[in-house]
Amino acid sequence: MDPTSLLRRSKKDAAADAAAQAEFNEKRRVWIPDDAEGFLPGWIKSQTGEEGDPQSTAEVVVASSGEVRRIPLYSLSPMNPPQFDGVEDIADLTHLNEASVINNLKTRYVAGSIYTYSGLFLISLNPYRTLPIYTPRIIAQYRTKRREENAPHIFAVAERAWQQIGEERESQSILITGESGAGKTENTKKVIQYLAAIASASASSEAGPSNSLTRSQSISTAPATGLPRSSSFKGKEAEEIGFGTPLASGSSELGLLEQQILQANPILEAFGNAQTMRNNNSSRFGKFIRIFFSPNGAIAGANIDWYLLEKSRVTARAEGERSFHVFYQLLRGAKDANLSERLLLEGGPEKYNFLKKTRLQVDGVDDLTEWRLLKDALGVVGFTADEQFELFRIPALILHIGNLVLTGSASDQAYLPRESQPVAERICHLLGVSVQEFTKTVLSPKVRAGREWVTQARSKKQAEDELGALCKFMYEKSFGWMVDRINTALDRPSAKS
Ligand SMILES: Nc1ncnc2c1ncn2[C@@H]1O[C@H](COP(=O)(O)OP(=O)(O)OP(=O)(O)O)[C@@H](O)[C@H]1O
Ligand SMILES: [Mg+2]
Repeated sequence: MDPTSLLRRSKKDAAADAAAQAEFNEKRRVWIPDDAEGFLPGWIKSQTGEEGDPQSTAEVVVASSGEVRRIPLYSLSPMNPPQFDGVEDIADLTHLNEASVINNLKTRYVAGSIYTYSGLFLISLNPYRTLPIYTPRIIAQYRTKRREENAPHIFAVAERAWQQIGEERESQSILITGESGAGKTENTKKVIQYLAAIASASASSEAGPSNSLTRSQSISTAPATGLPRSSSFKGKEAEEIGFGTPLASGSSELGLLEQQILQANPILEAFGNAQTMRNNNSSRFGKFIRIFFSPNGAIAGANIDWYLLEKSRVTARAEGERSFHVFYQLLRGAKDANLSERLLLEGGPEKYNFLKKTRLQVDGVDDLTEWRLLKDALGVVGFTADEQFELFRIPALILHIGNLVLTGSASDQAYLPRESQPVAERICHLLGVSVQEFTKTVLSPKVRAGREWVTQARSKKQAEDELGALCKFMYEKSFGWMVDRINTALDRPSAKS
């Protein structure tokens, strides 16, 4: 299949156009609201009352079945003439109504065109399949072109931002928003893919953005709206950048910095994404990515800001959802990496209380393959073996803490039963504290009461809550440290920027 056919619709022949137009003109074409289909094409057979009068009704014919319905005139939406079928910019429609917009997006989507402009905005519909529209050939097709010269595409948006950097001498931002599973993360990756490819090419040809002053390019995405959230983080503002799939121009052609920017993504996704009811790779944190360009058009550095990590997912999540990917990946891959002994991990997710009630298998997700991609990415970004161990120590610790069984009734002082001793030892080994110290802190800590220190007797529930809070705290701290570490790798103070 020719990928360009997915992007731009071929022009119909003129005779067919004229015939369609003539047929269209014969009747008063409208969109008829329909409970099952949303809107159905049809025409008005007869009408009572005037346009604008809420009492007016129309007798309409449903085009597909010939069925006649009587409905209020105001519920009908005028249909656009056939020359507007599948237009690339819905702002061009003569009749701009909900039915026409949906019909236009649907017509395009069915033909494989997932992108449509709406004035300044680009609308993207999730194809839920791999489309051959992100190849080096397509990148080349969008390079240096104006928007009108190509079919709507996320590459056109990235290209425009790049051009504007030079023309306006201002930083540019691309905001990607939509509900969970809409494709924000995927499109963010495409923007980065495009910029990495063209910036590398620019750097080698010494041709920067048309006005070669240093600029920054920011990419951020906004809230996933209207979602049932399992935690108190209802307002997780969503989105990212990054990369996982093969690079546009082959990673070998990209410089180390470009590769590191792209490879930051599998790391962020492993620790910040999880399978949810809506999306197998749902981002559970928001992010804002800055990319800096040097005067010759090369990428001079990058920086990632993160916010609102849904850390409660570490200890609890909705039915049918998973914890962060890294837990499953670590348990599948730790042996491979000689980590299971050092992290005292044994067995799969079914052995750990925090994971065993979550989905162990997710269609289309192979935790071991993802683990390998994660390890590769850590290597490219430059995490040392020790740093990697530190990074994995926290999820391992959390898994052990989840397995720590305490005893005691609702109000009594909780205590550590003998059978929990081995788990406590594992935790303390990884934490680097003594079991005695740990147990005392968790079960009967010294707290300040006025000027005095008193020993607080914690109930089982209180101690468990405390452990849960510790897990969430450590996970978030570790996440922050990880992003800092990535930023250190992406920061090139020496680059002229
Ligand atoms: N352009 C695309 N081409 C192919 N598949 C896509 C595309 N966009 C989205 N998908 C598919 O849909 C899934 C969900 O997309 P994505 O993770 O980008 O959603 P999101 O908007 O970031 O959601 P969340 O708010 O949950 O993070 C992807 O994992 C991928 O399988
Ligand atoms: Mg996402």
